[in-house]
Amino acid sequence: MKTIIEPFKIKSVEPIRFTTKEERVKILKNAGYNTFMVPADDVLIDLLTDSGTSAMSAKQWAGIMEGDESYAGSKSFYRFEKAVKKITGLEYIIPTHQGRAAEKILFFNVGAKGKYIPNNTHFDTTRANIEFTGAEAVDLLNEIGKKPEVRADFKGDMDVEKLEAFIKDKGVENIPLCMITVTNNSGGGQPVSMKNIREVKAVCKKYGIPLFLDACRFAENAYFIKKREKGYENKSVLEIAQEMFSYADGATMSAKKDALVNIGGFLAMNDPDLAMKCRNLLIVTEGFPTYGGLAGRDLEAVAQGLEEVVDEHYLEYRIRSVEYLGEKLVAAGVPIIEPPGGHAIYIDAKRFLPDVPSEQFPGQSITCELYIEGGIRAVEIGSVMFGKYDKDGKLIPPPMELVRMAIPRRVYTQSHIDYLIEVILEVYKNRKSLKGYEITYQAPMLRHFTAQFAPVK
Ligand code: F0G
Repeated sequence: MKTIIEPFKIKSVEPIRFTTKEERVKILKNAGYNTFMVPADDVLIDLLTDSGTSAMSAKQWAGIMEGDESYAGSKSFYRFEKAVKKITGLEYIIPTHQGRAAEKILFFNVGAKGKYIPNNTHFDTTRANIEFTGAEAVDLLNEIGKKPEVRADFKGDMDVEKLEAFIKDKGVENIPLCMITVTNNSGGGQPVSMKNIREVKAVCKKYGIPLFLDACRFAENAYFIKKREKGYENKSVLEIAQEMFSYADGATMSAKKDALVNIGGFLAMNDPDLAMKCRNLLIVTEGFPTYGGLAGRDLEAVAQGLEEVVDEHYLEYRIRSVEYLGEKLVAAGVPIIEPPGGHAIYIDAKRFLPDVPSEQFPGQSITCELYIEGGIRAVEIGSVMFGKYDKDGKLIPPPMELVRMAIPRRVYTQSHIDYLIEVILEVYKNRKSLKGYEITYQAPMLRHFTAQFAPVK
């Protein structure tokens, strides 16, 4: 059959609340035109993130009941550890309450002023945790990954030549580790090829630099490799994931993505000394090393989720539903990052609103309009999130101005997606009337979460 169906039945439902356009205009104004500040109950379809928003399976909920809440040596920890080792093959598995906690523990131990951490593209929390230690987070994405309109199979690949030049320039002693983010969230959820992971590893190995994967969406990345990279078509997603991790000396993971849970994460590595340091800090900030900020039941749900996420019927449905949304938008002329990524569609705000300059945050403008038009919550990934300022206070925009619509896992059906398409096309039709925004309040770090805006007069 040609039709790809959701590979599950729905056992439990959660109503969503409808609001009128007039109500939404007021709600958004009260939220300072920042969709992070809109109460979730006022959102119809919530595409703010695919993180922690998955629907758990009956088996995961059963695992929640079976969780062993022993403070030390919980049975659930050993199940969790086994599930993580099966996929990653890494030696030391350290549970954390989410991805950024793993990042904090890792970079507290390896980061410092004068150090550099290269990545294809750092996610915002990774960048923030690195910069918090005084180290510098450096993005070395290949050129094609920065061109939203160009279709290519592996736009998340790192520029291997730039990496080697960078290592020579900054000095091996100043690069405690190198990272690759799979899939490349901030660059459009684009996958990284096995070839690229292998080549990056070869460079790292040559200079004795450990390679860490930011593995939040490892299963989606592995599925893209299966579909797009020669030689992998007959391998299972699990085998592909295992090969990806075989090149890594460590990994950070937000289980809130590809472990299909609402909370959880881990840090994993092969270096015993670093693992010891990380565990010592974990005890201070997260908890004992067999629970690390999670309840036993959460560890059960992660272990079960890691088994379910490599199911190829699930991944086929998952990747296809995002691709379907992308296809319909492209057919109607809406500029997006092409091809569609694994977990989200990214509108290219520069091409959508060519008359709104980066200083007036075109992505923020589209985000506001999607909410007003149809109760859709998306998020800006552009100058609000990643903009820097020079010494004269002039904005240095990031390479792309994007609006991300992240699709929660196993939550929405095809008719939700069809409604979403209708809303986006309506906003696109009215794009000439969209105005820019200015920031009226911002926090010193990660300003996008709490910034307040006002429409430019
Ligand atoms: N790395 C990547 C690539 C991520 O996408 C995220 C989270 C993290 C690390 C941090 O994990 O949230 O569990 O602390 N991304 C979410 C998102 C928040 O919406 O893309 P966390």
